[in-house]
Amino acid sequence: MEKEIIKFKIMGNLETTYLGLKLKNPLVAASSGLTGSVEKIKELANAGIGAIVLKSVFEEQINGEVTSLMSKDSQNSGYPEAEDYIKGYLRDNTIKKHIELIESAKKAVDIPVIASVNCVSSDEWTTFSKDFQDAGADALELNIFYLPTSRHEKPGIVEQLYIDVLQKVKSEVSIPVVVKFGIYHSNIIGMADKLKANGASGVVMFNRFYEPDINIETLELTASEIFSSPADIRRTLRWVGMVSSAVSHLDIAASTGIHDSNAVIKQLLAGAQVAQLCSTIYLNGTKVIPEILSGISEFMKKWNFKKIEDFRGRLSYKNIPDPMLYERSQFMKYFSNEKYGTH
Ligand SMILES: Cc1cc2nc3c(=O)[nH]c(=O)nc-3n(C[C@H](O)[C@H](O)[C@H](O)COP(=O)(O)O)c2cc1C
Repeated sequence: MEKEIIKFKIMGNLETTYLGLKLKNPLVAASSGLTGSVEKIKELANAGIGAIVLKSVFEEQINGEVTSLMSKDSQNSGYPEAEDYIKGYLRDNTIKKHIELIESAKKAVDIPVIASVNCVSSDEWTTFSKDFQDAGADALELNIFYLPTSRHEKPGIVEQLYIDVLQKVKSEVSIPVVVKFGIYHSNIIGMADKLKANGASGVVMFNRFYEPDINIETLELTASEIFSSPADIRRTLRWVGMVSSAVSHLDIAASTGIHDSNAVIKQLLAGAQVAQLCSTIYLNGTKVIPEILSGISEFMKKWNFKKIEDFRGRLSYKNIPDPMLYERSQFMKYFSNEKYGTH
């Protein structure tokens, strides 16, 4: 343990703030099974992570469990009161477990612990946020995902759902709230701006959702690869560069495809406040954390940057000579190139 402290001491000043919290470095363990138990959280903290986001409490999960229980229980299936009772029990039990996780994580580690709620509606579910705050969570991450499946639904309604959830939660808690959303929005800068205007201290860009795949051997729908690949960083970099320039005083946690120190450095240069890690820890173990920290340190040494602030946002939309590079969306230049062109 002592050895580890010494190792990090010589790595230079990687301190940063995130949602007003002090972090010893800009690496955050993303919400997932990696942050679902105190043992795993301790391991992440020992490896040097700057903060952790607990595994989400899922609104969908509770609703799903109720439906499955009700369908098994033919005796009660005709009684709506029974459904309410089971739902109440499951919900309270799930909330209790999350509260216990927050409390024990706070006791076990000295880094910020961010609770996470998955919500698809702004109903009663959001009221539990206050319990998480009372349990000691340093901040709250809202993992919101709504999949519009009706062609009659207007796009603005979907955006409004995110705002409604945020407003409801903000009315319950005083700790910072950060909204984690996916890339499927018609106006990402507008979305981030509205979230900020409605009290979000930060945004996590982006969540990566379960995606279906098709097995052509069995002619069945299957789950696609659950882990990201380093190439997925391309999806986030543009938006981190643009949102960090367009919306001030809104912390950005870059997420998706961040597998090594180069990816973290790129996100910081684009203007991210922190980088969230998930797939890379699943694939490489917690040893990837000190490796990434060393990589950032070496980069800072090479460029003589004394602190993260010396280079954060240096290559964001507003700080580069030709911001159009961020806006370029067509491969025009390549069409005229023999290697990639049609001739
Ligand atoms: C196995 C697994 C479980 C996850 N569970 C959650 C979760 O409970 N809540 C959440 O907000 N995101 C969850 N995620 C999404 C991750 O937090 C992260 O946003 C996403 O995987 C993109 O980051 P990555 O490219 O580093 O994996 C999960 C991802 C994986 C692979």
